[in-house]
Amino acid sequence: MDAAKVERVYSSYAKVYDHIFGKIFHDGREHAVRHLNLSPGERVLEVGVGTGLGLPSYPRSCEIVGIDLSDGMLNKCRQRIDVYGLKQVKVMRMDAGAMEFADDSFDAVMAAYVVTAVPDYRKVMLEMIRVCKPGGRIILLNHFSNGNPLIAAIEKVISPLCKQLGWRTDLSLASVLDGTHLTVIHKQKVNPFRIWHLVKCVNHKSVNGNGQPHSHNALI
Ligand SMILES: C[S@@+](CC[C@H](N)C(=O)[O-])C[C@H]1O[C@@H](n2cnc3c(N)ncnc32)[C@H](O)[C@@H]1O
Repeated sequence: MDAAKVERVYSSYAKVYDHIFGKIFHDGREHAVRHLNLSPGERVLEVGVGTGLGLPSYPRSCEIVGIDLSDGMLNKCRQRIDVYGLKQVKVMRMDAGAMEFADDSFDAVMAAYVVTAVPDYRKVMLEMIRVCKPGGRIILLNHFSNGNPLIAAIEKVISPLCKQLGWRTDLSLASVLDGTHLTVIHKQKVNPFRIWHLVKCVNHKSVNGNGQPHSHNALI
């Protein structure tokens, strides 16, 4: 999917999105925010914030910035911000693959059900790493393709159909993390059927100093 299609597909979902994807994915969103272990005053970026279903779970003592490509989703999100009185949250239209934030702008970055919905997950991962401080936390909450060869084959077959709906099913966590400076420090299954993963990473982008990616992802 290119950016125009993402915008079109998700804006057409905006009115019904919360009914379809609200409750079923909520457990994962709440766990993910808890695993950020936020301290007062920290700054968090939520990429692909959508209608903002995760926003009420963040502590009010932190500053939250949400970005999304879809104006339809963002309009719903702004309504939620008003209803909940979330004064610590700002949202804006921005491409997660080409962000306008300076390097090291955030203490933590969250991508909830996003890396399989973006036009180019590599660009988005590199941008999330760039805008997150060294040593900061990055959480990916997503379905990743299964290690079981039979299930992986089914996921590959249905992926083109799912792409029409706005996401892919054939992306593995190893592909997402490949070539990055992220170390996975926690991984758990979430949501009904336990086919989604919460993956917490630490951003080691300048810790090893030589510009080479880490390969310490024993938890993948
Ligand atoms: C499946 S929804 C997830 C929404 C929300 N995070 C949630 O928990 O329900 C994926 C979102 O990612 C957004 N998106 C896709 N590609 C994007 C990009 N390149 N930049 C910003 N947002 C993007 C879509 O518009 C959509 O709102």
